[in-house]
Amino acid sequence: MSKEIEDHRNFNRSGNEPFSSVLGKHVSRRDMMRGGLGLAAVSVMGFGAASAMAGSDARTGIKGASAPGKKPLTLAFESIRGAKLDGVVVPEGYTAQVLIPWGARLTSDVPEWREDLEMTPEIQANALGMHHDGMYHFPLNKGSESREFLLAINHEYIDQSALWAPQGGPTNADEGQRPADEVRTEINAHGVAVVHVKKQADGRWTHVVDSPYNRRITNASAMELGGPVAGSDYARTKFSPEGLLARGTSNNCGNGYTPWGTYLACEENWPGYFVRNADRQLDDERLGIASGRGRYGWETAAGDAVEQSDEFARFDTTPHAADATGDYRNEARTYGYQVEVDPYDGSRRAVKRTAMGRFRHEGCWLGKLVPGEPVVFYSGHDSRNEYIYKYVSRATWSPADANRPGANIDRLAIGAKYLDEGTLYVARFDADGRGEWLPLTPAARTRDGRLLHEALSLAADDTAGILIHTCDAADLMGATPMDRPEWGAVDPTSGDVYMTLTNNSQRTAEGSEPTYTNGGSDVTETGVGFATAPVNAPNPRAENGAGQVIRWRDGDDVARFDWEVFVFGAAASDADNFSGLTELNQFASPDGLWYDDRGNGDGILWIQTDNGYAGVADDTNDQVLAVVPNGLETGDGAAVVNAGNQQQLKRFAVGPNGSEVTGIFATPDKTALFINIQHPGNWPASEDATHTTEGSVRPRASTVVIQREDGGQIAV
Ligand code: FEO
Ligand code: CA
Ligand code: CA
Ligand code: CA
Repeated sequence: MSKEIEDHRNFNRSGNEPFSSVLGKHVSRRDMMRGGLGLAAVSVMGFGAASAMAGSDARTGIKGASAPGKKPLTLAFESIRGAKLDGVVVPEGYTAQVLIPWGARLTSDVPEWREDLEMTPEIQANALGMHHDGMYHFPLNKGSESREFLLAINHEYIDQSALWAPQGGPTNADEGQRPADEVRTEINAHGVAVVHVKKQADGRWTHVVDSPYNRRITNASAMELGGPVAGSDYARTKFSPEGLLARGTSNNCGNGYTPWGTYLACEENWPGYFVRNADRQLDDERLGIASGRGRYGWETAAGDAVEQSDEFARFDTTPHAADATGDYRNEARTYGYQVEVDPYDGSRRAVKRTAMGRFRHEGCWLGKLVPGEPVVFYSGHDSRNEYIYKYVSRATWSPADANRPGANIDRLAIGAKYLDEGTLYVARFDADGRGEWLPLTPAARTRDGRLLHEALSLAADDTAGILIHTCDAADLMGATPMDRPEWGAVDPTSGDVYMTLTNNSQRTAEGSEPTYTNGGSDVTETGVGFATAPVNAPNPRAENGAGQVIRWRDGDDVARFDWEVFVFGAAASDADNFSGLTELNQFASPDGLWYDDRGNGDGILWIQTDNGYAGVADDTNDQVLAVVPNGLETGDGAAVVNAGNQQQLKRFAVGPNGSEVTGIFATPDKTALFINIQHPGNWPASEDATHTTEGSVRPRASTVVIQREDGGQIAV
């Protein structure tokens, strides 16, 4: 999300001692600068141990899953140069098509997009939302999976100046009462779209207007709560006195999908949309719910003569009634979840799966799927010095539950089976390349030896309370503060998990004392977290502007994992360019990530950026890079990608000025790569995404389909 809007204040105020002091005994920053025999060697060895555990190549830590004797994939394109254009740049021999930009209509009873279209609540509820982010494809029929499918797509937030361009901008954006219809339109520009798309005979893609599958889920749509918070006192509102229903989903950022054919929309920067002016609670402080005015001032439309069912009033969570069933004091507690959508059945409400934790979920990534074993999902909390989580289902995976296109399946009932009962863990990364998943259960022991529920002043059976206070629970357990976890990606064969750590301006030098907001200084306090945290092993650079990608592999013991740094972002000229990047692959602030499985245990890791780091941004707009992890011999460099092998990390595409590139998948036949362009400044000017805008256009986020002119597979 854009710099202007993103809010990554330091919500973590825990007193966990980061292990920089431990790390300091093993490796100094100077060691790393000298050639990286410090942290890197330590962590690579740790990962090698994990590989040995998993029956793979212990020497390198590289997956041993490739078919014996088979050479790793090679990328058959040349890394492209950086670009700063109002157009998308792709390698020679490729095309890029604009598909379903913001405002493209889903039904023919609302007008087609035009440059001077005045957006209304009704049009926006029947058209693509703004600021496309995570997305995934869902096949309709066996055999046509790569030519026709349902595309589920997140609309993360809005660009008010583009939305209200014909009217000269939003009304009362910063003070005064917002008009009801503007607020409704903005609410409808958020959420999720399900769009029926298909490839035409000429090779170009289109969406099917009026398809019965087309659907918008907005930040006003009624949805259900599932899992421990559902029906608890924490979720009771005037709208749902039983605490079983919620309204709307917002700030859906990275996404997830399940093996049973549902989509997961993940709620990230939602706290800024709510205000609470009195009787503030622990979780309001910890998650950053403000007092005063919400991000777009939606609550100011409360009391408008046309308001229905407190549609605006609910964004002010200040208590004013006798109890929670008379106001919206708990409204924000119905946000911060993974939201499951059945893309095939528009009659079914989405379900917020509360067992997977409540925080700023960037996304949700399915772990290696094994019949008879629990289903695992990984997730990161994208704020400075926040944590990485893992959810492990109680039910074990039954292949009979796998998605079957066209079959009459109750996918949300299957979702309840796996996602409503399970254990949430948070990650502690140790300096020796190992790590531990710490359970967030009432009877877990905190780092100072107390029962977790007692440390949070909760009853022994109050799992819902632990989940509402996920971040406080994680503080108390001793989780490792990270450099803003964004997307994950999982190699489905080896189970290796990759995750981007995008940047962290509040990472301080080795040996510095952590600082806390809210006056906290000790883990015995709740409602406190890291304001700043000194460098630690997986986050080894102070004032980290360029970010890094880590990877880990879970052990046979559900609580153990081994990890290493995969690649460090940097400008080629940086002193701490630990991965030896050059002008052909320098990048910063990795964000989107996707493991593109190409069979035989091999695949491509795609990395997308959301960069504001001058050293790189001066040279290029945000970009898409590719690398084949199996092709990398890990040496004694500072990361898996190092000066000796960095040329295998190649720049594949560059986005338009002002945009970030986010959201990614390829069709199963690998002939079309779908990406999203979010918050472009002056694009697109035509259906050809590579066309450079002359003059100015009303900017629109859009999906872009990249294909090869010869129809072959992408990248290889
Ligand atoms: Fe919405 Fe963390 O990116
Ligand atoms: Ca951005
Ligand atoms: Ca992101
Ligand atoms: Ca980002």
